Formats: sequence, structure tokens, C-alpha cells
Amino acid sequence: MNLENKKYDVLVIGELNVDVILNKIHSFPEIGKEKIADEFTVTLGSSSAIFASNLSTLGAKVAFAGKIGNDNFASIVENCLKQKNVNTSNIIKDNSFKTGVTIVLNVGNDRAMITHPGAMEEFGIDEIPEELFTQSKHIHVSSIFLQPKLKKGLSDLFKKAKEYGLTTSLDPQWDPNEKWEFDYKNILPNVDVFLPNKEEILHLTSTHDIKLAYEKIKDYANKVIVKMGIEGATIFTKTKEVYLTSFRNENVIDAIGAGDSFDAGFIYKFIHNSTLEECLNFANLVGAINTTAAGGTGAFESFEKIKEIANNKFGVKI
Ligand SMILES: Nc1ncnc2c1ncn2[C@@H]1O[C@H](COP(=O)(O)OP(=O)(O)O)[C@@H](O)[C@H]1O
Ligand SMILES: [Mg+2]
Repeated sequence: MNLENKKYDVLVIGELNVDVILNKIHSFPEIGKEKIADEFTVTLGSSSAIFASNLSTLGAKVAFAGKIGNDNFASIVENCLKQKNVNTSNIIKDNSFKTGVTIVLNVGNDRAMITHPGAMEEFGIDEIPEELFTQSKHIHVSSIFLQPKLKKGLSDLFKKAKEYGLTTSLDPQWDPNEKWEFDYKNILPNVDVFLPNKEEILHLTSTHDIKLAYEKIKDYANKVIVKMGIEGATIFTKTKEVYLTSFRNENVIDAIGAGDSFDAGFIYKFIHNSTLEECLNFANLVGAINTTAAGGTGAFESFEKIKEIANNKFGVKI
């Protein structure tokens, strides 16, 4: 399939929320007391949005399908995505729900987080316009455990994407309920690229070793990429296993969104028909770039900035 013929390279289907981050809180929050935070930031949260935003900054044509409320936080989500050139015309604004929000309380190296999922819980596959399947080359889905309605239709969604000739990827992300219910026998056959991190694949397969985890799902899975933080990542396919170590960053600011940026790097190369080794190497690079600035999108202001960090910090020309 030719990328040039499609309106969008990648359609991202997933959760949207705003992060309200309170920093430099004088002491840990206590019930019944008021404390002062010296700094706060309101920023685009959610794995899917970080993925979409950074993939677009890398140069792909990206559209988003999801659900937000019709409130001030909805405008923040929309504006942040638009600023990064992500098409937002298929994000539903629903008056009945609030836009999801995560309040992050940072104290020293510790943090407490509270999330109100809001509209993201109410988005189902029947709300994705049919035309997006013909306009896109690839679909990426993320954070299935935060989106119960979407999760119910997941195997149908990937089946439909394959019927339309799209390539597909899935990052399951963490299950806050830690139940890890995942119908891999029906879902994974239609997922070309499966992108869990190490903890997630071990939970999903009830194993304690990534090779055993792959063994368990290999009759159903296509390409499985296991992210392992600072250790790098491993790719498993029916014919080979490739491990690449991470790029060394001596000065990690934080790893928030590193996995989503890794996904963006991998899928960027994947849709351009690169070899698996090239996809994995670039994914590691983009994951490492993510750790050079605060939050999931801090290091991805522009393509020029990405090139500069790749060259100056990691000695890689892109
Ligand atoms: N400290 C780090 N230094 C360099 N690269 C990193 C670092 N942390 C993460 N990465 C890169 O980002 C990828 C994803 O990070 P990981 O923490 O495994 O994912 P997730 O955010 O989904 O848990 C890693 O596979 C690696 O390539
Ligand atoms: Mg992740």
C-alpha cells in the first residue's frame, strides 16, 4: 500500500486526558490540611495522546479518534494536539461527560496520582467513522484497560482494520484494576505489532520471564516488542528474536511517556517499511530522547529539536 494515497498515515484510537501536575509541595498531602505547591503545570496527558503528538512531530500524518467532554479541559486536549498537527476532527465532544484528568502530586521523588477517567470510558468502536478506515494506512490502539467500552469491541476493531487492509498496532498499557483480562487468542492474530512493556506482558500471560511469555502467545501473535526501560527492548517474531540495548542517557530528567515515544519511533519506521532492526533501533532512540526533558512531549517540540537531541546527546544523525 502506498502512503501517498492515504489522507492519514496513522489513526490513533485511544484515551485522552489532561495532567495537572503539582510540583515542589512543601510536605506530603494530608487529609484535612492545606499545603502549598510552589509550581504547577497543566499539560496534555494520556499515552495515546503522547504517542499521537510525538509521531506527528516525527513527520507522520496522524488523526485521532476518541472522546472528551465539552469543558475547558477539552479545549486544552484539542489545542495541544492541533499545535502538533494531529487531526482532531474525529474526537467526539460529549456534554454528558467530563474530560479525563489526572492530578499528580509530586513530593521529592515520590508522587501520588488520582485520575477521573471521564469521557474516555464511554468511547466505543461504533463511534469511529467508517471513512477513517479507508483514509488511514495504519491504526494504533493504546490503554485498553482504561477504556472498558472500547476494550469490549477490540477484537472486532482489529478484524475490521485488517479487512480494510490496514496495518495495526496495540500498546495495552497498565491495568489499574490488575485483573489483566485480555482475549489474546482473538485479538493478537489481527495485531501486526504488539507493544507491551516487560511488566505488562508478564501480567498478561501470568509468567515470570519474557521468553515464556512469548511462548504462551506465539501461536496467535505476530511481532511482539517488549520494552524494558533502561535495558532496551526485545522483538520476538516466529522466525527471530532481536535484542537491542537502550541508548545511554547520563542525565535522565524523567521517563514519563518513554514507552509511548518508543512506540512512536517504532511505528514511524514500520509504516515506512523499514527492517525490524531499524524499527527497534529508532524506537530505542526516540524512547531515550523522551527521557531528556520533562514529561512525555517535552523533548518533542519540533522535528528540528528532535534531530538536535539525537545528534548532540546520542551521536545519531536522523
Ligand atoms: N533511562 C533510559 N535511558 C535510555 N532509554 C530509556 C530509558 N528509559 C526508557 N528508555 C527507552 O524507552 C523505552 C520504553 O521505556 P519503558 O519504561 O520500558 O516503557 P513504558 O513507559 O511503557 O513502561 C525503553 O525500551 C528504552 O528504549
Ligand atoms: Mg507504556
